[in-house]
Amino acid sequence: MKDTYRFALLGFGNVGQAFARLLLVKGDELLTQQDLNWQVVGIMTGRHGAAINPTGIDLERALAMIAAGDSLDPLSAEPTPQNGSEFIRACNADVLFENTPVSYHDGQPAIEHISTALSASMHAITANKGPVVHAYRELTKLAQAHKRKFFFESAVMDGAPVFSLWRETLPAAELQSFRGILNSTTNLILTLMEQGKTFEDAVAYTQSIGIAETDPSGDIEGWDAAIKVSALVTVLMGINLKPSGVERKGIESLCSEDIQSASAEGKRWKLICKAGRTDTGIVTSVRPELLDPSDPLYNVMGTSSAVTFHSDTLGPLTITESDPGPHTTAYGLLADFINAVR
Ligand SMILES: NC(=O)c1ccc[n+]([C@@H]2O[C@H](COP(=O)([O-])OP(=O)(O)OC[C@H]3O[C@@H](n4cnc5c(N)ncnc54)[C@H](OP(=O)(O)O)[C@@H]3O)[C@@H](O)[C@H]2O)c1
Repeated sequence: MKDTYRFALLGFGNVGQAFARLLLVKGDELLTQQDLNWQVVGIMTGRHGAAINPTGIDLERALAMIAAGDSLDPLSAEPTPQNGSEFIRACNADVLFENTPVSYHDGQPAIEHISTALSASMHAITANKGPVVHAYRELTKLAQAHKRKFFFESAVMDGAPVFSLWRETLPAAELQSFRGILNSTTNLILTLMEQGKTFEDAVAYTQSIGIAETDPSGDIEGWDAAIKVSALVTVLMGINLKPSGVERKGIESLCSEDIQSASAEGKRWKLICKAGRTDTGIVTSVRPELLDPSDPLYNVMGTSSAVTFHSDTLGPLTITESDPGPHTTAYGLLADFINAVR
């Protein structure tokens, strides 16, 4: 039997739970095909308690308890700290999965969590964009110093390979520019408005299916798209960029008449993310653009997303992700784990 990797899950919401379900489905395959064994020794939430058990937590029970709205506290074999960083130290795990809510503004407390894990010689894996945008270089250096990995494939385009594509498969290629649709919520709102819904009804629908926040302004005003542009520029183009540095216009100025008159001309409004190198640095933007059918992004509908990369070595290279969700985000976390320990 191979060594068993001990996992700590910090954040057990949509993504954390989807990851737990994926582990249950893929557990045998990980062992037989990848020679990887695992157990979850810690789970912490914000308002639904926490559990630490060095001999392993029953994931099916944890999922059932959360689904019932219960606290995880009864699953704990020992007293659980109230603070994320103390929890990480107490778990004595090999891998931290950090999936707490994003902070666009400063990336905390996720940066603190990931830094604590790396300092304790754990691999740190996250779907959270905050630490990538606000502390990528510091956390990567810390990971190297401890011979561990800081990976975040799911932070942009969920489980679709974006960061690992460049890290693993495009050596010596330099990214010159990219253009894409990176925010699922606004793309679905625009699709629904084209089908005849009002802006308000479309927003309410995205909230009802759990993809937009109760306060959807982060998506509608383009902040989520801007932080994704920042993450791609920071990691793939080597230029530190904060969301506030991206020229940004959301979809709030578009009304049903705009969408319908574009449709009558055979065109579509999309929230387009762009970045391109210049002689002096980088130009970036997030803003609605009117696309005609010849545009490769014209047919990216609903919650789907896509990005086209232009490098110095290849022609345009496009990745499209159809109908993503927490299950695809969970796969990005699993792929990061396998790549980290391979
Ligand atoms: N949803 C997606 O498909 C998706 C895709 C790509 C990236 N992401 C990113 O993945 C992360 C998680 O997203 P999600 O959809 O799973 O969010 P979520 O459903 O809101 O879950 C967040 C989890 O974090 C817990 N939490 C909040 N504050 C905490 C704290 N200070 N310490 C410990 N736990 C805390 C919450 O506990 P309580 O519920 O008990 O408060 C909950 O378990 C976010 O950064 C998001 O941007 C999500």
